Amino acid sequence: MKQPSIFLLIFFAILSQSCQQKPDYQGVLDVKKSAIADKAMVVSAHPAATKVGLDVLKKGGNAIDAAIAVQFALAVTYPVAGNIGGGGFMVIRSNDGTTYALDYREKAPAASKETMYQDSTGQIIDGLSRLGHLAAGVPGSVAGMFAAHDKLGKLDMKELIQPSIDLAAYGFSLTEQQAKGLNRAKERFETYNTQPTVFVKDTEWNTGDLLVQEDLAHTLSLIRDQGKAGFYEGETADKIVAEMERGNGIISKEDLKNYEASWRTPVSSEYRGLKVIGMPPPSSGGIALNQLLQMVEPYPLSEYGFQSQNTVHLMVEAERRVYADRATYLGDSDFFDVPMAALTDASYLKNRMADFNPNKTTPSSEVVAGDVNSYRESDQTTHFSVVDAEGNAVSVTTTINGGYGNYVVVGGAGFLLNNEMDDFSSKPGEPNMFGLIGAEANKIEPGKRMLSSMTPTILEKDGKLYMVVGTPGGSTIITSVFQTILNVVDFGMSMTEAVAAPRFHHQWLPEVVAAEPNAMDATIRKALEDMGHIFTERSSIGRVDAILVLPDGKLEGGADPRGDDHAEGY
Ligand code: GLY
Repeated sequence: MKQPSIFLLIFFAILSQSCQQKPDYQGVLDVKKSAIADKAMVVSAHPAATKVGLDVLKKGGNAIDAAIAVQFALAVTYPVAGNIGGGGFMVIRSNDGTTYALDYREKAPAASKETMYQDSTGQIIDGLSRLGHLAAGVPGSVAGMFAAHDKLGKLDMKELIQPSIDLAAYGFSLTEQQAKGLNRAKERFETYNTQPTVFVKDTEWNTGDLLVQEDLAHTLSLIRDQGKAGFYEGETADKIVAEMERGNGIISKEDLKNYEASWRTPVSSEYRGLKVIGMPPPSSGGIALNQLLQMVEPYPLSEYGFQSQNTVHLMVEAERRVYADRATYLGDSDFFDVPMAALTDASYLKNRMADFNPNKTTPSSEVVAGDVNSYRESDQTTHFSVVDAEGNAVSVTTTINGGYGNYVVVGGAGFLLNNEMDDFSSKPGEPNMFGLIGAEANKIEPGKRMLSSMTPTILEKDGKLYMVVGTPGGSTIITSVFQTILNVVDFGMSMTEAVAAPRFHHQWLPEVVAAEPNAMDATIRKALEDMGHIFTERSSIGRVDAILVLPDGKLEGGADPRGDDHAEGY
């Protein structure tokens, strides 16, 4: 192929520089945990990303445009989980009530094998699916943003990417949490990178330090100028494959070129008269949330009260059964026949709770996945929520899986790769990093998407938009979304209170209830222990970012106080 002349390259470099503008969002920005607005709202994990989304809305972009801009902005300002090297899910509800579910989850590379994380004796090789080059799935985020834009976007894609280029080129100031996170990750960055990265410096990072990401700004400029091909082909693809070759990874040029995002049919269910719209496989989130809500609906939760003995016991027992089903039946529906109708069937779920004992736990050893055959008929990710002035709503959860993904920054391209391969079941019954187990449904196969817990969700009340909700948190995502919905619907909390309220989580195996330190009164916890529940303390569970439509039509944004999350509207 004929190479472009040096003059042409310099011309394009100057052109792309000249488009850059110093962003308004310099210095450590104040975070707002609660916001009320008349028209539109964005809630995300970083104040600069929220502001980028809000600017797009003020310029006349719709909620989909704003979500795209926020996804790119988080890739710059929230490197621990925001990404272009990972994947995610987008649930959309247009103001006419039409719903969409966009799947841009990563895929297993073509060269992957079912036993690729096992040694010759069949033992799991510790860390191989989580750290370094072999842990990466083929990234889906950039394809996802273009798919969303092609179908529903309004503004020019270039306008949606430019603010992120500016943030990368001019830098943004680290928050305290971010500085600490980068310092903690230093050793791993040094171990797993084949070239020096911008995330490592000789001295410690401090609050307020400017993080400038020139390589990332360049990669984002290629995406701005060349579209999807700016990532999946040409210079960026070459850099990803060269990185793989240096670090014994297996993502190939073909894997990148072949990647496509997929539109799926959202999972819909009813809970106390509300319509719940969620993400179908390869996420387990929509189905599991649907199951949990149906299982607890017959019980008078508001009478029981928030975090009361009856409430916690009921929720944990429902969670135990749902996660047992997840381990057996859920995987990428393009590869495995997920019995979706059966799993969400009302009589199936009634039967699943038939052995629920209100006075005592059912040990997980006695809980196996339900028999769906008789019903044939019938610690890092990030979430953001957007509502625009026309009432369109977008709920996005996106991830590189663990904090900083596989710790590998693509040499010269400046973005982190995911370690999403760990979300597959590397061996039947063997727990992944979230302690989740799986089997046939979620085994590794070339081109398959790994099962996710991400649960971007939208709720409708009386045919109108009611809530946009989601969270990071690995296996705890489903239960955090579940609790947030109950907090509003059953316990009468505001959106702000609901996202801040203390949380707990159970996932069948291991047989423990993980609870935040202040999750419930000591006397209630003791009473629950007497019923058979085993508690472990977890310092923090999830970071829910959500929007509620108030009775007067105003929007309430709730940003989780556990992080730097920020709600802002107009
Ligand atoms: N990587 C976390 C999830 O997708 O569930």
